[in-house]
Amino acid sequence: MKKSAAQTDSLDALRRKAEEKLRTQVERLQKLSSRDIRGLVQELGTHQIELEMQNEELRRAQEELEESRSRYAELYDFAPVGYFILNKDGLIREMNLTCALLLGIERGSLLNKPFVGFLAGPDDKNLYFKHREEASQSPGKHTCEIRLKRKDGSLFYAQLQSIAQEDKDGKAGSICTAILDITDRKHAEELLQKSYAELELRVKERSGELITANEQLSQEIEDHKGAEESLRSSYAEIKQLKDRFYAENIYLKQVIDREYNFGEVIGRSNVLQYVFFRVEQVAPQDTTVLLLGETGTGKGVVARAIYNRSSPARRAGPFVTVNCSALPANLIESELFGREKGAFTGSSERQMGRFELADNGTLFLDEIGEMPLELQTKLLRVVQDGEFERLGSPKTIKVNVRIIASTNRDLEMAIQNGTFREDLFYRLNVFPITIPPLRQRKEDIPLLVDYFVAKFNKKIGKMIETVPKETLDMLHAYHWPGNVRELESIIERAVITSQGTWLQVLDRLETCRTTGEQTAQDAKGLSELERDRILQVLQQTNWRIEGKNGAAAILGLNPSTLRGRMRKEGIRRS
Ligand SMILES: Nc1ncnc2c1ncn2[C@@H]1O[C@H](COP(=O)(O)OP(=O)(O)O)[C@@H](O)[C@H]1O
Ligand SMILES: [Mg+2]
Repeated sequence: MKKSAAQTDSLDALRRKAEEKLRTQVERLQKLSSRDIRGLVQELGTHQIELEMQNEELRRAQEELEESRSRYAELYDFAPVGYFILNKDGLIREMNLTCALLLGIERGSLLNKPFVGFLAGPDDKNLYFKHREEASQSPGKHTCEIRLKRKDGSLFYAQLQSIAQEDKDGKAGSICTAILDITDRKHAEELLQKSYAELELRVKERSGELITANEQLSQEIEDHKGAEESLRSSYAEIKQLKDRFYAENIYLKQVIDREYNFGEVIGRSNVLQYVFFRVEQVAPQDTTVLLLGETGTGKGVVARAIYNRSSPARRAGPFVTVNCSALPANLIESELFGREKGAFTGSSERQMGRFELADNGTLFLDEIGEMPLELQTKLLRVVQDGEFERLGSPKTIKVNVRIIASTNRDLEMAIQNGTFREDLFYRLNVFPITIPPLRQRKEDIPLLVDYFVAKFNKKIGKMIETVPKETLDMLHAYHWPGNVRELESIIERAVITSQGTWLQVLDRLETCRTTGEQTAQDAKGLSELERDRILQVLQQTNWRIEGKNGAAAILGLNPSTLRGRMRKEGIRRS
């Protein structure tokens, strides 16, 4: 507006200058000749055309200016941002339409009003004054965010951007401010803040839950670790048991395929193999055999093995046993040779002797060392000639009997002591076979154990399958004074008392037979005790039977049982 006024002023001056020039030209014209005048008129015409052209140009420029001015005013008024200018006293000097609309007031009524009237509260006022001061004191753009109050009292958030300006007179002091409604952004921010706070709370809560869960999980992991540990150790135990079970069953298998065994005579030790070899050599002949060995070494089973391997003719005959140690001395004779009716008091029946019974067969004279001396003479005769007489009969009976004798005694010693006939000894000692004690062939123990376990399983109706290694070790460590017979009874007891499928040996082998507790077992233990041992113990105790250091206690027997046994055995203090 001001600019276009200046332009109008310069056009007037231009015109005035042209009129002035025209006047001086006219004055000069009056003094000029007609020729000069013609020239001048022509020049004037040219000038006029130039002038008109300049006029035209001027008018066009004015129109353009007018147009850009109204475009500027439009842009200013309808800009999306509100603008206002304050003078140095803080009064509104100018404002665009957007600003008036933002403040909800008519533009005209705002002129020269203070802007502070639109500030919402004391906080906003403080912020605003600070902002204005900064903007007026330092160059550049300054920004602040405050709350403004519209004319109708409603509030909105605004962002102010202010810059200092020179006023109309070129003096510093006025401030041009752009104003932007940021209510939506503020609300969004508030919402964001609220959700953030909520989120933080949730995170806190969740973290708490997670920590608890984590603790529980750690505890569970610990528990699992413990369980795993115990599982691992149980597994190791099971594996160990399995290994042992496997090792132990090998023995059972070996027993099943009896390739090393000799009929019912179990064992594969070298010493026993030699016995088998001797048996095989002599069995088919009718030769008399003398079996030597401690009690319980298996003289009886070997005698039967000889019989089983004897010639077909001999095998067709019977196998008759006489246990010389089990019979009272006065009965042995009639047992061996038989008796006629009324041979002695109480003999109402005629009785066949064992020699007669064994005719064409085999007679096994077990524990021949126990035979009374007077009978040995009679025996010698039968062994030599196969002839004898029944008790109470003069008639000579002739038999064909193969004799197998056995003893646990040192017969040569007995000969020296005068308790055994030398000539009988030589008659019997044609083919001696010594059966070694079990302690000299401990490698046979596992085979024997499994053999007896199987035997008593069947007999008692048990299902023992496994012999623990400790048990075998214990059996192996023992010195076996009672040999295989003792082992057999221990296994029988163990099969009876074992629960389940494992063999449990309850006997404490090192103190075996010294407790004397089980009277019920005495009768059984009795038959197992060797005569020599009883004698040996009696000599040791100086024939004292009862008492703490008596023979009965040492042998683990009741004194009365021991006395009965001594009577039966004819054991007397000589
Ligand atoms: N090698 C063996 N194999 C199987 N059983 C045996 C063996 N040796 C001994 N026995 C058993 O041990 C017990 C005692 O044997 P036995 O022949 O009577 O011994 P001995 O006559 O030497 O005193 C018997 O029941 C017998 O079956
Ligand atoms: Mg015997």
